[in-house]
Amino acid sequence: MTPVLRPYHPRDFSALYRLDQACFPAGISYSKTTLRYFLSLRSAECLVAMQDAHIAGFILTEENPPLAHIITLDIAEKFRRQGLGSALLSESERNLALRGVRHVLLETAADNEAGVAFWKHHGYGIAATLKRYYLGRLDAYEMRKILPAQGVTAST
Ligand SMILES: CC(C)(COP(=O)(O)OP(=O)(O)OC[C@H]1O[C@@H](n2cnc3c(N)ncnc32)[C@H](O)[C@@H]1OP(=O)(O)O)[C@@H](O)C(=O)NCCC(=O)NCCS
Repeated sequence: MTPVLRPYHPRDFSALYRLDQACFPAGISYSKTTLRYFLSLRSAECLVAMQDAHIAGFILTEENPPLAHIITLDIAEKFRRQGLGSALLSESERNLALRGVRHVLLETAADNEAGVAFWKHHGYGIAATLKRYYLGRLDAYEMRKILPAQGVTAST
């Protein structure tokens, strides 16, 4: 079934918080305060993927064109490997590019094999290893991608 993507609404907050807690280990997942802070930023965009009337995933980004940061991408376990993460990322990258973003970066735990494979699949490359980035002991990768420039569409 094709997912429905829509902007975040404040009534989604509890579901997004629970999903983030389920997606990441304690200490890497966001506290309510931190998640609420990111969601409240004027420079942030959050897109939610609905599947069968349930929130199946979300992506949260922050931008300062030409730079943007993917804060998190969370897909509920039972909806993984169905293209939902890809759909959210594509829509997010499209929106960012339209607003003048060219460089997108994110951090992911070096031992997050699914995450690293997903980002590489979408053209993100490892730019640096951030030693002891999480919990003072887990390494992270900083991964980056350059979005294609938005060309001017030729008109007849
Ligand atoms: C990483 C994550 C977002 C991927 O979401 P998803 O909806 O399952 O991804 P997609 O179905 O769009 O996968 C696209 C491609 O990414 C790669 N990929 C995704 N999950 C993978 C896995 N577990 N192992 C290997 N490759 C994987 C594959 O190339 C896949 O294409 P394929 O299914 O045709 O082989 C999801 O596993 C998740 O939410 N994990 C927990 C949170 C997290 O780690 N987020 C990312 C770090 S911020």
